[in-house]
Amino acid sequence: MEIKKISKFNPKINVAFVINSVNELDKSFFSSAEQNYIKTQHKADNKIVVVNRLTQFIFVVFTDKGNDYKTCQITRKAACKLVEKANELKISELTINTNIQSSFAFAESLLLTNYQFLKYFSEKKENSLKKIGWFGKLSTVEITEISNIAEATNLTKNLVNEPVSALNATQLAEETKKLGKIAGFKVEVLNKSKIEALKMGGLLAVNKGSVDQPTFSILEWKPAKAKNKKPIILVGKGVVYDTGGLSLKPTPNSMDLMKCDMAGAAAVIGTLYALSKNKIPFHVIGLIPATDNRPGGNAYAPGDVITMYNKKTVEVLNTDAEGRMILADALSYAQKYKPELVLDVATLTGAAAAAIGHYGVVAMGNTDKKTMDKLKESGNNVYERIVEFPFWDEYNEQLKSSIADMTNLGNGSGGAITAGKFLEKFTDYPYIHLDIAGPAFIKTQVDYISKGGTGVGVRLFYDFIKNYK
Ligand code: BES
Ligand code: ZN
Ligand code: ZN
Repeated sequence: MEIKKISKFNPKINVAFVINSVNELDKSFFSSAEQNYIKTQHKADNKIVVVNRLTQFIFVVFTDKGNDYKTCQITRKAACKLVEKANELKISELTINTNIQSSFAFAESLLLTNYQFLKYFSEKKENSLKKIGWFGKLSTVEITEISNIAEATNLTKNLVNEPVSALNATQLAEETKKLGKIAGFKVEVLNKSKIEALKMGGLLAVNKGSVDQPTFSILEWKPAKAKNKKPIILVGKGVVYDTGGLSLKPTPNSMDLMKCDMAGAAAVIGTLYALSKNKIPFHVIGLIPATDNRPGGNAYAPGDVITMYNKKTVEVLNTDAEGRMILADALSYAQKYKPELVLDVATLTGAAAAAIGHYGVVAMGNTDKKTMDKLKESGNNVYERIVEFPFWDEYNEQLKSSIADMTNLGNGSGGAITAGKFLEKFTDYPYIHLDIAGPAFIKTQVDYISKGGTGVGVRLFYDFIKNYK
């Protein structure tokens, strides 16, 4: 679906008036009977009123006044309802006539709600809604910006929804290259022999049980006049499928959704896409270690000691804690860029999902307070809210090994945090870890967030980086 700014309002075609109160109803447009109907519906707390004029549908959508983050979320939900109604009524084109302050959120939600992943249906039941004409507040530049962000979020969902049979590590890297060409960011893909030459022991260990090759992708958006001297680095977990490896995930159902274990990688790709399409003036690098985690042939085993990229050794006590093994190598690799800040994003632990469900993103880190506060603010702005977990050093005690520098497994208490502390050992820069195991993939639609891959992280990172300095 596309949104186009229009400069002249055509009162004869399908239109949605998005307003804050009945006082804003255009008296020259609605008959008094229609006005009364709308007022009665509004009194009955109906947030979206449909007037059927035979030749056109008219929607009156009510949302709250303001542009604070809670109001924006109410507006996103209203936009979602409008798209659903329009599709129910088989409408293909619709004009939005509005001056609400939260227009940005409204437009964004239209594009996010209308997302579908139909690739594998033989009969595709496509949404009817294809074109939005935007009349009112929001410039052409803003509409382009919103469209690029939504496109990036929706392509991130595509990547997550794609099963491993069609998206192994190499295919993910190929997709990344294609997207880089379209949006204008650089992509370098390190193949298995390069990864071996670099001695990325964590990534290679996880890949041992697989028949597919691992990849390590380096994405870069470097605008001519970047406002930051040292790059911001985003690291995404790219486990294209997680069986648990030899520590096989216990049935039933615990493996069903594990194609989503590259949602962190997908979010990094989507973010670079949005940043470069919108030419955001910050130098950003994305690092994506990718492989599947399988129990095949020569799979890494509990008890193995792995020498990581930075030469530290890890005693593997559970092969299902694979995300931290591949991320650790990427985090040590990030050191060579002398980054100003590194954020990783990963479907890392069931513990994070168990703690807060799909309602938010678990975060922890060792940056100054201001940076974490800014991230939380962005979390509110895009309604991918951040919950900060403690990052106390005492959690390190759980990672002590009797045979190597550390183990890859805590004792179960504070599981999301011990995973984060494990990763921190591979950093030497300001660092924030985001665990998206909860919100990355949902089984049923939640308002404008479609079921399946959610694209979580893209809008969050975009907002954070855009407002970085
Ligand atoms: N990919 C999983 C985490 C996960 C769980 C993601 C649910 C999405 C939804 C991760 O690799 C994993 O298996 N983590 C283990 C770690 C444990 C062995 C320390 C977990 O959380 O059980
Ligand atoms: Zn796992
Ligand atoms: Zn995993």
